[in-house]
Amino acid sequence: MKSHIKEFWDKKIIGWEQDKYERQKKIDVNVSLKERLKIAGRILQSGLVGSKIVELGCGSGRLLPIIAKLPHIHYVGIDVSPVAIAEAQKRAKELGIEERVNLIAGSIVDHSFEKVDLVFSLGLLDWLSDEEMNLMIKNVRAPHFFHSFSEQRPSLSQFLHRLYVFSFYGHKDPSYVPRYYTDEEMFGLLRGENVKFYRSKKLSFGTFCYDLPFDLETI
Ligand SMILES: C[S@@+](CC[C@H](N)C(=O)[O-])C[C@H]1O[C@@H](n2cnc3c(N)ncnc32)[C@H](O)[C@@H]1O
Repeated sequence: MKSHIKEFWDKKIIGWEQDKYERQKKIDVNVSLKERLKIAGRILQSGLVGSKIVELGCGSGRLLPIIAKLPHIHYVGIDVSPVAIAEAQKRAKELGIEERVNLIAGSIVDHSFEKVDLVFSLGLLDWLSDEEMNLMIKNVRAPHFFHSFSEQRPSLSQFLHRLYVFSFYGHKDPSYVPRYYTDEEMFGLLRGENVKFYRSKKLSFGTFCYDLPFDLETI
């Protein structure tokens, strides 16, 4: 992993999350990110995904309030940013669930997990190289997964996203910017087995790839 990635996320993550999830704006351009968090919450609350779950790139643990309502779940969250993990630890403590929550500051490429029922990520895959994706898949084997990713599309919202990325940080370091996958690329990286895709208008160009015991259309 490139050494500056930890510093990049340490500086960015808390402000990014506050901007995306908390700031009230007249025109909400972050509907898609709020929607993907809601969908993740609904999947966890389905009760059908097992009890040992691992979230990759968990940020400050925005799903912990939902975990708090699901006493059978043992949650592992890993994030490359120690700043994000410190915030997640604070959140777990406030919710009184530290004993069934394990939070790790580190890169997903350096940690492997066993006996996992479900592995998932929101917004992480956009930041991984093919090599890191392969390591991620090797490091966590689970019967079920779901991951959100940015799907490559010729849309106005994607054009504006590219412009936003370039203006705010891409021009400083073009080697570390989010990527957009086609569904074929994602299919190939996940080796195709039982992978389904879920798209919705609210998610904009955000797409879920998943293998779950139900269709995401039904939740
Ligand atoms: C776009 S943010 C999404 C955060 C959170 N999942 C959410 O949806 O609000 C991507 C997250 O992935 C983390 N991340 C990036 N590369 C990582 C890596 N190699 N290993 C672990 N975490 C990583 C970042 O620190 C950041 O918290």
